Amino acid sequence: MAVTWVFGYGSLISKAGFHFDERVIGFIKDYRRVFYQGSTDHRGTPDFPGRTVTLEPAQGEICWGAAYKISKKEDQEVALTYLEVREKQYDRKEYVDVFTELTATTPAISGALVYIASPDKKVNVNYLGPASVEDIARQIVKAEGPTGPNREYLFLLENALLQIGSKDKHVIDLANEVRRIISEEQ
Ligand code: SIN
Repeated sequence: MAVTWVFGYGSLISKAGFHFDERVIGFIKDYRRVFYQGSTDHRGTPDFPGRTVTLEPAQGEICWGAAYKISKKEDQEVALTYLEVREKQYDRKEYVDVFTELTATTPAISGALVYIASPDKKVNVNYLGPASVEDIARQIVKAEGPTGPNREYLFLLENALLQIGSKDKHVIDLANEVRRIISEEQ
């Protein structure tokens, strides 16, 4: 029976939401994590979208996250059905190699499923793309959706990355800017 691996780089790092047999901290190559995806179903609304992370191709860069092993066929079916709903605003599925050692040339895991929101507005109507740290942070401060405030998503991710020992400047800069704006408002 084929084993399924799912690689999470956003909310999936702190909350899988499905049954898994093993969790492996690792990274994928030639991608970076960016808060460029609009969220109208979890962390924002159609009237005021929030921002969540997607992956952008970036030659030579790496993106840390968590890979989940799902061994049993029944668990795979339940997990994939659940993820189809949770990640429905992510229009692309890729199969990536996951590495655990910076010096390794062969991956620890091959063909892990990852959900990506592409920058193609024709197929991904919610894509927002780049903006300044301040603009993205101001949007995150204001946005709130059925899953909760957008700032909570950012802080959970910041904390999850801290726990796996990964420093992501984009996430840290945004979290600091969001905290600055919040303290200014008080
Ligand atoms: C992921 O976590 O891998 C996808 C993006 C998200 O759900 O935050």
